Order: sequence, then C-alpha cells, then structure tokens
Amino acid sequence: MNPRAQLPEPDPDVCRSLADDLREAGFTSAALREAWGETPDTAVARGLRSPALRALSGRDDALAVLGRLLVLGMPEPRASVDRALPRTGASGLAKLGLATEDADAVTPVAIVRPQSFADEHGDGEWWVASDLDEAALQSALPEDHVLGVGGASLTLASLQLPTPSGRGLDLGTGCGIQALRARRSVAHVVATDVSERALRFTRLNALLNGVDGIETRLGSLFEPVAGRQFDRVVSNPPFVITPRVDGVPAYEYRDGGMVGDGLVAAVVSQVGAVLAPGGVAQLLGNWETRGGDVGLDRVREWVAGSPVPLDAWVVEREVLDPLSYAELWVRDGGTLPGTPRYASLIDAWLDDFSARDVSAIGFGYILLRRPETGPATLARFERMPQALPDGGLGAHLADALTAHDRQTALDDVELAASALVVSPDVTEARHQLPGAEAPTVIELRQGGGFGRAIAVDPGLAALVGACDGDLPVGVLVGAIAQLLEVDEVALRDDLLPRVRELLVTGFLRFDD
Ligand SMILES: C[S@@+](CC[C@H](N)C(=O)[O-])C[C@H]1O[C@@H](n2cnc3c(N)ncnc32)[C@H](O)[C@@H]1O
Repeated sequence: MNPRAQLPEPDPDVCRSLADDLREAGFTSAALREAWGETPDTAVARGLRSPALRALSGRDDALAVLGRLLVLGMPEPRASVDRALPRTGASGLAKLGLATEDADAVTPVAIVRPQSFADEHGDGEWWVASDLDEAALQSALPEDHVLGVGGASLTLASLQLPTPSGRGLDLGTGCGIQALRARRSVAHVVATDVSERALRFTRLNALLNGVDGIETRLGSLFEPVAGRQFDRVVSNPPFVITPRVDGVPAYEYRDGGMVGDGLVAAVVSQVGAVLAPGGVAQLLGNWETRGGDVGLDRVREWVAGSPVPLDAWVVEREVLDPLSYAELWVRDGGTLPGTPRYASLIDAWLDDFSARDVSAIGFGYILLRRPETGPATLARFERMPQALPDGGLGAHLADALTAHDRQTALDDVELAASALVVSPDVTEARHQLPGAEAPTVIELRQGGGFGRAIAVDPGLAALVGACDGDLPVGVLVGAIAQLLEVDEVALRDDLLPRVRELLVTGFLRFDD
C-alpha cells in the first residue's frame, strides 16, 4: 500500500493501550536525550538522525526500539516492536495508521515524539504523532505533510494566556499541539484545518494524551466556525510567503495559498468576527514591508479593517531581508543549497518579492482582544528583537492586559492616589563615567516578561525605587520634586504617563 494513502485512525482503545505501553517504556523526551546524548538530540531536531542511531546501536530495549521506530522513523523487527509495545503490538500501530507491518518488520509512516512542556499549571509530557519529518524521510517533504511540534509551535504554545476560559478555537491545528495546550485552561476547543489528515492526527493525539473537549472541524479559515464565537482563538497559521508560480511547492503546513502576506492579513482582519466580547486571539505571522509601507504599519491597517473594535499588541521579533527569507524557507522544505533546484527556487522568491517591492519581512506575535464594551484602548506595535528570558510569556501577557485595563480606568488623580510596588524581577543599573558625580545612564531591567531594559531619568528612577506599596504615587512625586528642586505639577505630568507604561510592561504593579 502507498503509505501516504493511509490516514491516521484515531481508535480510542488502541490509543489507550499505546499510551500505557509508552508510559511503561519510559518513552519521554528526557529519557531519549539521555539514551542518545545531547548532541545527537539537537542533530535530530536539525533533520540528521545518524548520530542518534549510532548511539543506540546494538540496543534492543523498549526505549531504543521505540526511539528508532517512532522518533527516527526507522523500520524495526516485528518481534522487537511486539516486545516494546506489549499491549499494542505491531498490529495496533498499523491499526492507528502510524505504521505498516509485514511478517518480519514494522515500517513507520508517522512519528510519535515525546514533548515535554511546562506552564503555569505545572510540568507535563505529551506524545505527539505527526507525519515523518525530514530526519525520518531523509528527503524533501511532501506537500500534504502534517507538521510535528516545531520552534514556532512551541513559541505560540508558550504565549497562550493561562487564565481560565470557556470556548477556544485553534485555527490550522496541524497535529493539534495548540489545541492540547489551550485545553490546559480552556474548557472546550474547536480545532480546524483544511487537512483531514491533520485533523485525524489531532484526534489521535488528544486520545493518546487522554485530553477530552477537543472538537475537530474541516475547512478553510473561519468557514468551519461561521456563526460561532470564542473567548480564545489561537493560530499558528500557514503564514509563509510563497511565490505563486509553477514548480514552487505549496506546502499545506506553511502556505495558505495567498499572495504575499495575504493569509495573515485575512486572519487578522476577520478574527474579530468570531471573538466574543472580551475574547482574545493570539497568532504568529509574517508581514511585508512594501515600498515605503512599513510591515508593522500594515498590520495596524489590517487591525483597523476588523468588523469589531480590537485591542492590539503586536510584537515584531525578527526582520529578514528577502534573500535570507527565501533561503530560510527553501531549506525548510528540504531543498539543499548548492543544487540547481535551490537556485531556481531562490530566484522565484526574489521575483515574487520584487513584484510587490518588498524590502523586508517581519515575523512576530499578534495579540488581539475584542473589548467587552466600547472602543479599543490598547494599540502597541513594537519591535522586540532581544533574547527572551526563559519561561513562557503567557502569564506576563495576561498580567499586562489586566494592568492595562486597570490603569486605563483610572484618571491621573486616581492613579496618583494609588500605591504601587516595583516588580521583584526588576533591577537597576547605573552607568557612570569614571570620577563623575552623577550617573550618565540609569537603566531598569526586567528579569522576566519580555526582558525589557529601559533608560530612565533620575526622577523616574527615584519614583520606581520608592514604590514599596507604602505611600501613594502622588505623595512620592511631591517628595521627589522637593529633592530634585523641580516643579511638582510639571514632574507629575511628566511621570504619570511613564508610570502607566511601567504598569503595562510589568516594571510596576498595583499593591494588592
Ligand atoms: C504552521 S501549521 C501549524 C500547525 C500547528 N497548529 C502548530 O502550531 O504547530 C499551519 C496549519 O494550517 C493548516 N492550513 C493551511 N491552510 C489553511 C486554511 N486556509 N485554513 C485553515 N487551516 C489551514 C495547515 O494544514 C497546517 O496544519
């Protein structure tokens, strides 16, 4: 049988027995890393499996058999598989559509990777089945490839707000990783995709991990959920900009079939229609800088095109020139540099970009929120290329939204009457020329959140330093004005907008 004709079969009983077998075999990401070593582990992530195979050579224990079969995509003797998976056996894997079997051997047609995660609800481990990856295939990916958990998947998973919520949508679910993560805090999740194959992997992964409350729906963009509303939408959409010419592969997993950044524009401008009041959408995306039209400004226009008002917080993490972008995505499809095919694909990308006068492509995070009532109050479009502190941003984003709402509801008199505290992860650095009496630069740094570093003047530094929850901001400003011998009203007018910014960015907090 042609393995691609075989679809995953999410059979509840076999999934349960496979989960029991995998648990019993200690099939975890840490155990595999230990079995084949750190360096081979990172090589597998880059698509190179031979170092891991060498490390497992001669081993026939369950972990080694499963590592080779389910992660590295190698055929294994049937007897070894039956021993490693005593409940499921080779026939169970075949029944799930994850492998083919004959009298002697089992050949995987999918991988099942252990995936550890940590969030505000605790640490855990999932097993995630998806199509054979580059390491397993040892060749370019087919166009209907269902992606496993990659770097972008993990980024978006760690951005998801951890606060409890009712109805969720994962648009373009692939193997279902965002839906699984969403279910940690969202009661019911609809997972959509244009790929039936992807939806079957999602259902299988939900069963394998004992996660209920995920409903799958086939269809493009918002069409499968027309008329429904959600409190959370999460999407790692197929945002990769791809030339629309013959000979360029159109990978379902990364390319939504539109010109340029049209798919991200469509998701951003249409998502408001499925957001319930107060609902939040979190997306990843690419955006082009076209002529003099800067990428982040174009995202602002997409948000403005929403049928409902939307708060927007867009973070540009990276900007690539057209050639670097083309190289990134041509290599990602498994076409190697130095081949004529590589050169012709790069040309196709460069032609496509020049047709729209694209000079740069931004990548980043988009958070959109439909206000409960009234107009939008949040519009942050910022560049943050710095390395981020370890740990997810989900809780930070949730706190930032709460702080934004709270400070927006206070006028300056009320804010001045509030007692604030400096966040425990904030440190201050003073840079001073040798022998100088006063610092030339005072810097506040965040240990968590986005790891921001901001330069502050002595007035703001004094205020932040004095925020211990004891005295209201207005009283502190009065004392600092006296100390610095400046006009109190002018100092207050200068400091309060910046206090608001420090509350939203998490340097300061309300004291309660
Ligand atoms: C980049 S993958 C993301 C997979 C997974 N959610 C993750 O975070 O790893 C994008 C997914 O969107 C799906 N997709 C492509 N075009 C789509 C469309 N027009 N509407 C909905 N989903 C689409 C693809 O099949 C693929 O599964």
